[in-house]
Amino acid sequence: MTQCGINPMNPNNHLPTINIFKKNIPKLGIGTWGIGGYMTKSPYSDYVNEITQIKYQLSKGLSLVDCWIAQGEGGSLELIRQAIEDFDREKITLLCKFDIHKYKDIVELETVFNKYLKQLNTDYIDVFQIHKPVFTNISERELNIFLMEKIKHGKVGSFAVSNAKKEDLINLKKKIDIPVEANEILYNIFDREYEVNGTIEYCNKNNIKILAYRPLNRGMTNIAHTSPSFAEIVNRYTLTPNQIALNWLLQKENVLALVKSSNRAHINENMDCMSITLTLKDLNDLDSWRM
Ligand SMILES: NC(=O)c1ccc[n+]([C@@H]2O[C@H](COP(=O)([O-])OP(=O)(O)OC[C@H]3O[C@@H](n4cnc5c(N)ncnc54)[C@H](OP(=O)(O)O)[C@@H]3O)[C@@H](O)[C@H]2O)c1
Repeated sequence: MTQCGINPMNPNNHLPTINIFKKNIPKLGIGTWGIGGYMTKSPYSDYVNEITQIKYQLSKGLSLVDCWIAQGEGGSLELIRQAIEDFDREKITLLCKFDIHKYKDIVELETVFNKYLKQLNTDYIDVFQIHKPVFTNISERELNIFLMEKIKHGKVGSFAVSNAKKEDLINLKKKIDIPVEANEILYNIFDREYEVNGTIEYCNKNNIKILAYRPLNRGMTNIAHTSPSFAEIVNRYTLTPNQIALNWLLQKENVLALVKSSNRAHINENMDCMSITLTLKDLNDLDSWRM
């Protein structure tokens, strides 16, 4: 194995940064799926470790924390609150998901909003994110008024969406006055649906940043070894398949990857993903590579 292209601009393995949500932050964000439980509270969660590992990532400079109130019946927010309490709030970006497609009315949205503030012990939310761009009982017009009001009073910094396709973004642009700053989508080296359906190209052209969720395909990147062409690229670097998968994503100008780990060795592995620069040819080959 040879060590191709040690990054001369990055001798300390610093992660690249991105201008997003009015800050310049590292291109790795802190995923939280499963922290404190999945859709119910989990008796199997190791709460102490989960808090410790979020704190560790923050201490290393990661700053975007993905928050979802539904998770662990609100329990994951409690762990996030404990993890962030000793850090400078202004250096942390809390991205909060709202299932507006499920709420019965704007009153319920207000209630959930206030629960986020209370459970995270914060006065404001950096990023108000709709979890799905689906409008059932709450209309785009009502959301627009809600958002304008929250921004005016300093309760919300930015607006983002998740799981939006190009058509959804076009609709939001027409109906909501606050620009969508980011779209959180399933995007990794295996899953290119949002490349194929034109959403990523639309985001790039309209200055909408991509928050790539499941960037390690839920930790399944090692199955890449079943692909000789991927293994051939991996074997030419002193990077692991996970690091190659993250490196490929983070080389993209508009992309921040939201990776979840509660394992110190995995966290360090992920944060070291940019220690080596992939050649342009390898990046191009990975662009066109498919399982
Ligand atoms: N907006 C949405 O609809 C949506 C949907 C899904 C996810 N998300 C967000 O995106 C985040 C990331 O997605 P995800 O959690 O589904 O998938 P992921 O980050 O691709 O993978 C996480 C899994 O991979 C493991 N892992 C992490 N680093 C590893 C490494 N270096 N080697 C081996 N295994 C490793 C983790 O286990 P360990 O903890 O043991 O390391 C965990 O089981 C979520 O946590 C959530 O915040 C959003």
